[in-house]
Amino acid sequence: MDFPYNTYSMTSPATPSKAAKKSCGCCIPLLSSPIGRKWIVAITGIVLILFVIGHLLGNLSIFVGPDAMNSYAAFLKSTGELLWVVRIVLLTCVVLHIWFTITLWRENLSARPQKYAVKNDLGTTVYARLMRISGLTVLAFVLYHLAQFTWQAFNPEYKTWIDAQGRHDVYRMVVTAFECPLVSGFYILAVGLLGMHLSHGIASLFQTLGLTTEKLRPVFERGGLLIAWIIFLGFASIPTAVLLGLVKCSASVPSCPFSH
Ligand code: HEM
Repeated sequence: MDFPYNTYSMTSPATPSKAAKKSCGCCIPLLSSPIGRKWIVAITGIVLILFVIGHLLGNLSIFVGPDAMNSYAAFLKSTGELLWVVRIVLLTCVVLHIWFTITLWRENLSARPQKYAVKNDLGTTVYARLMRISGLTVLAFVLYHLAQFTWQAFNPEYKTWIDAQGRHDVYRMVVTAFECPLVSGFYILAVGLLGMHLSHGIASLFQTLGLTTEKLRPVFERGGLLIAWIIFLGFASIPTAVLLGLVKCSASVPSCPFSH
């Protein structure tokens, strides 16, 4: 399969477009070339993937039991300022990743001779669209997810759930939320799109970093696909296990009319 990297990695326009001029009217040399901007998308992507893998490993502690999950969450909170540093780095990466993706996309559009791509560009157009749609859905999911579990905006009672050791009962919160099939279904769908985004994104970032050769291309493609599947199955296993009653909490109170 000829993997259409270049639309997402975005071929460099010969002359800087209006969008490019606007976005790189600053003194940082990395930002002044499309290659530099692609690098930023790739590097911020790597940081975000590392976060996702770390978060997955932490969340899998739910299968060990309430004590493991609650002490993991308590440990994260106990890191205090370090946690805030990590949060700020992540937020910066998200903003830069999205900003430069949009900038490169606009540059690419205005560099095209025709408004609509035809024939040869069809595959790359579909590919780029898939990346944008899956990326935006993952962003919407993360905002919903933060509102649900970090800010506990939908169920303020979550804040009052404390386990026997006096720690926030994150285990009970997650199990209660996933007992609702609508919530679990949305999570499974969102992590499916995340997997799709990562499978293309991982292969694409190796291309951007100049590490792809004809020989290595299938290795990166398959490697990206494998990592994406592991991430998808890892995250999806949590709501699935709760829905199947394999992970449960005696203290959970039904939070939606469909909860079992
Ligand atoms: C089954 C899937 C998931 C579960 C059970 C889960 C669980 C949680 C929980 C319990 C928290 C709050 C921790 C606390 O404040 O004590 C949290 C925070 C967070 N989650 Fe997830 N998560 C899942 C998937 C994801 C995915 C796929 C992403 C990103 C694409 C993500 C991104 C985040 C972020 C950014 C935070 C905020 C971290 C912070 O407070 O600094 N989560 N998650």
